[in-house]
Amino acid sequence: MNEIFHIQQNISFTTAETILEYCYLIAAVFFVIGLKLQNKPDTARKGNLWAAAGMFLAALATIIFEKGPQGNGLRNLGWIFLSIGTASILGWYIARKVKMTAMPQLVSFFNATGGAASAVISFMGFMGTNLNEKGTILVSLLGILVGSVAFSGSMIAYGKLEGKVGDIRSGLMKFVNFGLLAVSVALIVILMTVSHHNTGVEVLLFALLFISLLYGVLFVMPIGGADMPVVISLLNAFTGIAAALTGFLYGNYVMILGGILVGAAGTILTIVMCNAMNRSLFNVIVGAFGGSNSEQGESGGIIKEIQASDVAVLMAYSSTVTIVPGYGLAVSQAQHTVHDLEKLLESKGVTVKYAIHPVAGRMPGHMNVLLAEADVPYSKLVEMDDINPEMENTDVVVVIGANDVVNPAAVNVPGSPIYGMPIIRADKAKNVIVMKRGMGKGYAGIENPLFYMDQTRMLFGNAKDSLQKLIDEIKSL
Ligand code: TAP
Repeated sequence: MNEIFHIQQNISFTTAETILEYCYLIAAVFFVIGLKLQNKPDTARKGNLWAAAGMFLAALATIIFEKGPQGNGLRNLGWIFLSIGTASILGWYIARKVKMTAMPQLVSFFNATGGAASAVISFMGFMGTNLNEKGTILVSLLGILVGSVAFSGSMIAYGKLEGKVGDIRSGLMKFVNFGLLAVSVALIVILMTVSHHNTGVEVLLFALLFISLLYGVLFVMPIGGADMPVVISLLNAFTGIAAALTGFLYGNYVMILGGILVGAAGTILTIVMCNAMNRSLFNVIVGAFGGSNSEQGESGGIIKEIQASDVAVLMAYSSTVTIVPGYGLAVSQAQHTVHDLEKLLESKGVTVKYAIHPVAGRMPGHMNVLLAEADVPYSKLVEMDDINPEMENTDVVVVIGANDVVNPAAVNVPGSPIYGMPIIRADKAKNVIVMKRGMGKGYAGIENPLFYMDQTRMLFGNAKDSLQKLIDEIKSL
């Protein structure tokens, strides 16, 4: 720490500033490379490391070369290192312990911390600003608003995904939310017009903080569970915007760029997810997808059960088998077992492919990441639009722990909550085997007519156990 202090004292202001800007430029390039590599599952891990290295460089350079408000370096270095150290250990521990299926919760929690940090920095920025600098004032007030909404909204999203917070829906909520937003904007306008700090200004500032936090809570509260990943991605974009605003506040280029990258990536992801469900963002926010007592899609009919031994024969003597993985495969952690089954079938001359739906599971790319974990070759994963035309000629489609993403109600039942969502056309295959524990519904909470179709057989049980039974049966043929 003494060395850092020494460097800060001895380096000239302009030299420090120049070195810092070069470091920020290099960090920005690292972020972009990281983002690019995260585009593909096989390079995503490397991409993460590049982005982390960029962030490390930016933080270290700031600590060493930032001259601070007094021009003689950052103060409170002990506190800075203590908080960075504690946060790094905590973050590392939590990320290592988290289960794949709980990843959206983790993302949501980290989002919340980013939003809170931006709100606090903006708040302090406002308190330390000359109230005649209108541009800076506006940026700090927007930072408080967006950061607080990202924080409280993400915490509610986290609670919902953990099953600790339920949905609260009421027609009134739209109006309450609109009212809160209008009051926040009014407070920002008033705070823009004041010219010096006094108690009244502080009261208004706390009111803005409180109302923004409340808005975040009430904005996320009515949104259905199945829409949570979309909301998390939207809140992620908010966190990025809040970080960019704080970057503007302190003239910190790397924060501006990092924030804009997160904001843009979050926005694009939100749009991609909405498109994959064929719903508008407005519909996600005010709609009620994910209801548990929906009448639409109600089907009934006769369920035909099948035993593992019969499925084994059917698969082993087929020429094409397509596996449709879903959330249940992730829950039962059956990725390695399904890969073993695939290899066994291939050794018997069966062509096996995986049909990947863009929103199968609970987060974007969930199935890709899950199967990559088991070293399933990427060439075997076929996107929905490419596999659907092949379905009619597929001998057996095996649906493993998937439900909504193969629900033909999305195509045939105009009143269904998922009507219009693109699906994997398992219903077109010659034979359909559905592997699930019972007749539990999917995340949208609706019936699935596929389970009652003539060509469908149900193989009940935990996905991993059923897959193991299938492997044993095929080996004994
Ligand atoms: P779901 O529709 O949620 O269905 C999963 C099925 O797996 C359930 O019906 C359940 O039935 C079964 N299951 C659970 N645990 C199991 C286990 N241990 N073994 C075997 N089966 C098990 O899953 P999906 O088809 O993957 O669809 C994902 C849903 O999430 C969609 O509604 C989608 O819109 C929504 N969503 C996803 C995203 C992203 S980005 N992925 C974003 C927004 C929304 P049983 O209880 O009978 O076993």
